Amino acid sequence: MKDIYLYPDLYDALHQDIETDKNVITHYAKKCNGSVLEVASGTGRLSKYITDLGLPYTGIDNSQSFLDVSIKNLGNRGTFLLRDMRDFHLNKKFDFIFIGFNSFLHNLTDKDAVSCLTSIKTHLNDGGLFLLSIFQPDHSFLYRDEYLYEARTFFDYQGKQCRMMERNSFDDETQINSLIWQLEIDGNLSEETYSFKQRMYYPHKMDLLFQETGFSIQEKFGDWDMNPLDEESPLQIYICK
Ligand SMILES: C[S@@+](CC[C@H](N)C(=O)[O-])C[C@H]1O[C@@H](n2cnc3c(N)ncnc32)[C@H](O)[C@@H]1O
Repeated sequence: MKDIYLYPDLYDALHQDIETDKNVITHYAKKCNGSVLEVASGTGRLSKYITDLGLPYTGIDNSQSFLDVSIKNLGNRGTFLLRDMRDFHLNKKFDFIFIGFNSFLHNLTDKDAVSCLTSIKTHLNDGGLFLLSIFQPDHSFLYRDEYLYEARTFFDYQGKQCRMMERNSFDDETQINSLIWQLEIDGNLSEETYSFKQRMYYPHKMDLLFQETGFSIQEKFGDWDMNPLDEESPLQIYICK
């Protein structure tokens, strides 16, 4: 089984068209109008939104192969550093910090989550804003049976028509969802499997984590149209001070 975060070309083939988060993230970056830190910046999908605004940008990630893609594409417009989000020190503070696209779910324990938020807080300027976006745990996804389901519909990868299939198993005790992705190439399921884990965080848990780490929530949204967060919302988007 391979680590999906060692395969930037595949990751980009799967995600490069996603833009739903662009407007809200750029709205808050413009509002802060200063230096920006992205936590878990990956291959630079979201970095580009910020560098296009001309704001000073730093991205951190713990996958060197993902960072290499960012450096190749955007290295002259931003700074990209190998760091673990659970404990980092940059000797610099920022006006806007964000962690998008469910990356926070890679904090698999309370300890990791608190340590990550604490690191973020020490890098946020007074008066700055912090945006965090994750999906809301969905029982119909977490507790489904162990068939293969379509995770991403057809996309082009290495000149072939591919689909990403997935199965998952959810551990109630740890609240960790273990996912396995299996690539279908030109209609045939390949032997290639990729794995990753995500911890589920409910809104009440996020409230407690923000409180414990000294953040105050300014706004909460349940989707990228900025509708209020409620039990039915697909996403949790927090804007904190
Ligand atoms: C879902 S991807 C999001 C990447 C990018 N922000 C985007 O929107 O496409 C999650 C990212 O988190 C990174 N990551 C996972 N655990 C991490 C950790 N402990 N510290 C820093 N980055 C981490 C992965 O390498 C990956 O780039």
